[in-house]
Amino acid sequence: MAQNLNAWLAAGLLLLTIPVKLYIIPPHEEVARMARFVANQCDWASMATISTHDPVQGQPFSNAFSISDGPVGFGTGVPYMYLTEMEISVQDLKANPQASLSMSLAQTDFCKNQGYDTQDPLCAHIIFSGSVVEVNGTEANFAKKALFSRHPEMVEWPADHNWFFAKMNITKVWVLDYFGGVKTVTPEDYFKASPYKKYN
Ligand SMILES: *[C@@H]1O[C@H](CO)[C@@H](O)[C@H](O)[C@H]1NC(C)=O
Ligand SMILES: *[C@@H]1O[C@H](CO)[C@@H](O)[C@H](O)[C@H]1NC(C)=O
Repeated sequence: MAQNLNAWLAAGLLLLTIPVKLYIIPPHEEVARMARFVANQCDWASMATISTHDPVQGQPFSNAFSISDGPVGFGTGVPYMYLTEMEISVQDLKANPQASLSMSLAQTDFCKNQGYDTQDPLCAHIIFSGSVVEVNGTEANFAKKALFSRHPEMVEWPADHNWFFAKMNITKVWVLDYFGGVKTVTPEDYFKASPYKKYN
């Protein structure tokens, strides 16, 4: 019994200590890692579409969406979403799948704790360009796990809304994480990077 208890305590301590190490922000010059870090830390993104709605047809239209690229600490870099065509921005995507997603560490405790304003480049933020595409099969199964684990209320969303799983097909990554202007990362480098690699 005591041995069991010790095992549980050890497991508990492990769970408490590992994330603290995992969540350390990468060095700003490691731009691809930074992008992956921000993408994994954020639970939601602003998504801009080209509006199909009066009176702003053809104009940019930005809206908030729940996203997940996997569990915190184990992100894949692929922003998954749970969408319905009843939604105004999703209607835009049907006409034109091109979109832009932005995420910021201002959405986490990081910038507040550091005293960084949202527009301060040190408050790392990223912008994806690309298109939003539906996912099926095993990828949809993964998207479901990734999303529902971080957004538990999704399981209750009304079935008659015909929800489907989608991802952003990233064509370009833009990173603002330091002074000197925006930096870009190719999708190849972005997906190769490991956000939580140990470093000293
Ligand atoms: C997923 O399935 C939907 C509906 O059957 C289809 O329209 C869409 O093209 C499929 N997407 C992919 C990536 O296979
Ligand atoms: C993703 O975007 C690239 C570049 O525009 C395109 O070649 C590719 O077919 C897209 N993939 C999907 C699944 O839409």
